[in-house]
Order: sequence, then C-alpha cells, then structure tokens
Amino acid sequence: MSKKPVRVAVTGAAGQIGYALLFRIASGEMLGKDQPVILQLLEIPDEKAQKALKGVMMELEDCAFPLLAGMEAHSDPMTAFKDTDYALLVGARPRGPGMERKDLLSANAQIFTAQGKALDKVASRNVKVLVVGNPANTNAYIAMKSAPSLPRENFTAMLRLDHNRALSQVAAKTGTQVKDIEKLTVWGNHSPTMYADYRFATVNGKAVKDLINDQEWNKNVFLPTVGKRGAAIIEARGLSSAASAANAAIDHMHDWALGTNGKWVTMGIPSNGDYGIPKDTMFGFPVTTKDGKYEVVKGLEIDAFSQERINLTLNELQEEQQGVAHLL
Ligand code: NAD
Ligand code: LMR
Repeated sequence: MSKKPVRVAVTGAAGQIGYALLFRIASGEMLGKDQPVILQLLEIPDEKAQKALKGVMMELEDCAFPLLAGMEAHSDPMTAFKDTDYALLVGARPRGPGMERKDLLSANAQIFTAQGKALDKVASRNVKVLVVGNPANTNAYIAMKSAPSLPRENFTAMLRLDHNRALSQVAAKTGTQVKDIEKLTVWGNHSPTMYADYRFATVNGKAVKDLINDQEWNKNVFLPTVGKRGAAIIEARGLSSAASAANAAIDHMHDWALGTNGKWVTMGIPSNGDYGIPKDTMFGFPVTTKDGKYEVVKGLEIDAFSQERINLTLNELQEEQQGVAHLL
C-alpha cells in the first residue's frame, strides 16, 4: 500500500539553495523513494520573487516526479506552514565577501521570529524544523523561542555542511574514502569558531588521529580550512555555497527522519545541558538518530584543547543570543 503524502515547507524556494534542493526532495532523496510529498513553497510577496517561484514550479512539474503529490506557492508563512510535517527554513539574506555570518543577524533575525510564530500556530505538532538561513544556530534559537507550544527538540540548525566538509578533508589527508569514516563531529556554532573534532573518528576500524598524528595540521590547516570554507567558496564563486548546502540539508533531514543505524552525524540542536552547554543553546553535537528522534552521543572525553575550542564557540553563541534577546 502506498504511503500517505507528507507536507514539506521550504522557504526561500526561489533562491539558489532552493533551486538545488527542491528537485531532490521531490525525487525522494530526502524522505525515501516510497514517500510522496506535498511541497509548500514560501517566497517573499515581491512580484519578481513570486514570478521566479512560479518558474521553479513549472520546472518541477516538467520533471513529472512520481512522488510529487502536490505543490503550492505562498507569500505568507501562516499559509505556507499549515499542517506541515517538515519545514526547511532557507529563506534569508546570504553574506557577501568580507562579512561574517553573524553580521546577517540584524537583517535576518526578524524573519525567524515571524516564522517561529507561524509554525507555532499552524504546523503539525510533530513538525521537524531545519534552519539553514544564517546565522543558522541563532536563527534556529529565535524560531524555537518564538514557538512555545511546539516541543523545543523539533527545532534544529544545520551543521551538516561543516560535518561533510570535515569528512572530505580527513579523507583527503588520510588517503581514505569518506564512506569509511565514522565518529567524526563538529561542535558548536556554524561559524569559524566551530570545532571540527576527529579525535574519536575511525576509518575501517583504525583511529584517524593515529593515522594523522599531527596536531599542527589539526590546528593550523584542518580547523581553519573547515571553519572558513564558506568564505573560501564566496571568494571563489562570488556567491555562497548552494548545491553543497542543499545536499547537507537533504542529509540532515534524511537522517533525522529515517535513522542513522548507530552512525554519528552532527546536528545543531537545543542543548539539554550535555557537555556543560547551557540548556536551549542551539549547539552542534554528535548525535545518532532512530525512529524520528535524535540522541546526543554521551560520555566523550573532552581534553583541554577541545574544552578551549568548545568554550570559544559557546561564548560566540551566547553573545549572539544576547544580541537577539530583545526580539524574544
Ligand atoms: P538566495 O539569496 O539565493 O535566496 C534566498 C531566498 O530567500 C530569496 O529568493 C529571497 O527572496 C528569499 N527570502 C528572503 N526572505 C524571505 C522570507 N522572509 N520568507 C521567504 N523567503 C525569503 O540565498 P541562498 O544562497 O539560497 O542562501 C539562503 C540562506 O542560507 C542564506 O542566509 C545563506 O547564508 C544560508 N546558508 C546557510 C548554510 C548553512 O550551512 N547553514 C549554507 C549555505 C547558505
Ligand atoms: C557556508 O558555510 O557555505 C554558508 O554558511 C554560507 C556562508 O556564508 O559561508
């Protein structure tokens, strides 16, 4: 018997990430090749944006995806999020050269208060929310705090792009394949302060840290490469990452919905106090997922260097949170 369609809301649907994301959701790459979807697409009311959205929908139609059970264009989050089971909050201003992601807070924060409130009123009570728009952790925190009637664990921020970037760097350094690397994570904020951590990682059962055995490379090459990869892409492309960001969003939602079979992935989630991170801070943690729920990997040893890096990224997140307190 075929499954009942689920509702997937995507904001910023006519933007660059939207264009790399929607076709993959509609083809079943996010929620499975047996799961029909109804796309609820949100763009700003501006005539040009709405027209571009219609164009994207024409292309979706022309793909004749068997799993695309319906599609709607919206300009108001109150209708776009109606009964939605999944919400991918992508729509926000991207940064340009020379900017940090937190410089976007003043431009983008209000989007997430309005959208959090709308989700609170009209979305499914089980909605799974992924915030991609930058600064992703603090925007996810704003949306969660603006939606008091929804469970706080339904709100997450995207650290998966950083996780995937770290995987590729480790694979290149060790001459191994991404598919064989396990137990890697990225702690903290989606910003240059993030702490990509391969201390527990294995490749085909061998410890990655023994294969690398070079703390200078970790500190002076690996961490800056992963942490500043977004800026390097803006510098090279003139635009921020889009296909890799969409790919990470697919990975994040796929794994949250369908499970990781014990494998670690990184998700930005509201802290429960694990590893000394204050409750509700939207922080990148190693998690495993099962039956639509994520669980933090517990009991990992945090050495002095790691604690220093975790404190740095936590301090930055706390400053960002204080900067938006007036909106909440
Ligand atoms: P883009 O400018 O190409 O597209 C953004 C779209 O969002 C535009 O079409 C715009 O009209 C729309 N939009 C703006 N405000 C909106 C609102 N209130 N409601 C609905 N739609 C709205 O940008 P992009 O390259 O697609 O990037 C989108 C965001 O994702 C940026 O903030 C970018 O920095 C961020 N990003 C995050 C990650 C991550 O890893 N977390 C990775 C890449 C990009
Ligand atoms: C990225 O990491 O590529 C995105 O967050 C875009 C950016 O501004 O760096």
